[in-house]
Amino acid sequence: MCGIIGYIGSRQATPILIGGLRKLEYRGYDSAGVSVYSEGTSRVVRCRGKLANLEEKLTREPAAGTIGIGHTRWATHGRPSDENSHPHKVGPISVIHNGIIENHLALRQELQASGSHFASETDTEIFAHLVAAQLVQGAENLTAAVRRALQKVRGSYAFVVMSDKEPGTLVAAKNSSPLVVGLGEGENYVASDVTAILAETRKVIFIDEGELVTVTREAVVITDFEGKVKQREPKIITWSAVQAEKGGFKHFMLKEIHEQPRAVADTLVGRVDLENDDVLLDGIELDVKKFKRIIFVACGTSYHASMVGEFMIEALARIPVEVDLASEFRYRDPIVGPGDLVIAVSQSGETLDTMEAIREAKRKGASVLAISNVVESSIPRLADYSFYTHAGPEIGVASTKAFTTQLVAIALLAVHLGRRTGALSKERARVLLSELVQLPQKMTDIVDGAAQLQVLARRYGKAHGFLFLGRSSQYPIALEGALKLKEISYIHAEGYAAGEMKHGPIALIDEHLPVVVLVPKGPHYEKIVSNLAEVRARQGKVLAIATKGDNDIGSHADDVVLVPDTALELQPILTVLPLQLLSYYVADGKGTDVDQPRNLAKSVTVE
Ligand code: M6R
Repeated sequence: MCGIIGYIGSRQATPILIGGLRKLEYRGYDSAGVSVYSEGTSRVVRCRGKLANLEEKLTREPAAGTIGIGHTRWATHGRPSDENSHPHKVGPISVIHNGIIENHLALRQELQASGSHFASETDTEIFAHLVAAQLVQGAENLTAAVRRALQKVRGSYAFVVMSDKEPGTLVAAKNSSPLVVGLGEGENYVASDVTAILAETRKVIFIDEGELVTVTREAVVITDFEGKVKQREPKIITWSAVQAEKGGFKHFMLKEIHEQPRAVADTLVGRVDLENDDVLLDGIELDVKKFKRIIFVACGTSYHASMVGEFMIEALARIPVEVDLASEFRYRDPIVGPGDLVIAVSQSGETLDTMEAIREAKRKGASVLAISNVVESSIPRLADYSFYTHAGPEIGVASTKAFTTQLVAIALLAVHLGRRTGALSKERARVLLSELVQLPQKMTDIVDGAAQLQVLARRYGKAHGFLFLGRSSQYPIALEGALKLKEISYIHAEGYAAGEMKHGPIALIDEHLPVVVLVPKGPHYEKIVSNLAEVRARQGKVLAIATKGDNDIGSHADDVVLVPDTALELQPILTVLPLQLLSYYVADGKGTDVDQPRNLAKSVTVE
């Protein structure tokens, strides 16, 4: 997820671009840059780090001109560095990009074979080469060149392209990444989010999937990728700047819950090899035979993802797995060595306990794989291998999209390992991969039903405590549901393995205790239904999270939320969504500071 903005008019572009980028920094902040056209050529100024670094650089290297594009980056392909920052310039063409080009490796090889030289590790630079090549090969103008180049790329993207040869035009295109055009008097704008241009105009046109837009000072022409013109009426935005930053949602957490289908799709891009029923790990070559054991280390929500990972990897690859809290592992003189693969899971990549756990594991000779959402953060840099989630920046302190993308990354890893240990047949891998690819749609179905969770939050939200129950891979989801609720609503909640209930927590149950039970269809269904009966026999109120098509569950529970069916190993990726929504609405009902709950920090870089 990155932020993009373009301006064409008669005012100086740079201050407008920087103003827009400031509003977009929440979408990415590992590097930033602008390309501004003046007198026959565009000048690119870009650098690693926060926008402030770029502003400082621009005081030394000003970029004057009335047409320009700007970008703030959240790295996916290529580490954060000056060279990997956008815009990328190839010949007369400057490009900024939000999203992922899925077939970037094949395109890069093709372009290199025909003599192109690359200055960065990014997928974006490929598009600049493609557009430049189309102009050399006779495309009649920039719009035609972009249209032809688009035929070659697969993936999710919003591009904005500028050419020194046609300085009165910006061309932008959209597929699965947001793009909006802002309309002014004798000037126009393009951006990834309205928030970037609200200070300049409230009259906007939202660009749809598969559309290309040619923007000049006086006109905006929208076509599809074949060139058919589309008519679209502008809309007037009435959101405040703060609302706009949250995409119209009340809180970042709610926005991030709704972003999960996209985040999961982005995490799958370029990794699912349906032709060979396999998973590509971004070029990571793991010596699978060497590893007799896998040990996950992580904290908080990432620890819960790791617990689900234990089920996934043991089931699919039959490699023994242990899971440890990083803060415990680092101090207990763990027995760990060269036959172990330690997997460190961390959204931020900066959690101190996880970092120290890695150091301890490395000291003792283990190999370390990091799963992180932040390219080149400290944890991936410490690790031997890094595999990234592509959730984009997570602003809400309560982790949501980072969690589900971690589960997807671990599921991909489990399939990859399973194919190599021989534990996972091609046929089963095919089923799992096809189910993984269907997850974004199924997640959309769940978040579209958020209103039901809002009603349930009202019904149960006055309780003084909650119990969450689940078995096997739903047990970590019970823990995650309880963590989510307590961290943002300040209501005490416990997650428990359902089979353990009779060993203690059953004493808590009375008519005042809501019990959220994860009961998707699967081998433990009947056992969970018995637990649920035990709760109801003691007047406990049961909210069941079950599988669509389960017609019996209603007679065992007070309320039921149904989620779509999927492969057993992937069910946690769906069942957690209603719990996130429930926590959100309970907290919002109480009026707590949902995005920045008391006493909590997004990234825990201290002990
Ligand atoms: O950045 P990390 O994944 O390493 O962070 C770990 C925990 O601090 C984090 O998951 C925390 O528990 C969140 N607040 C959970 O919502």
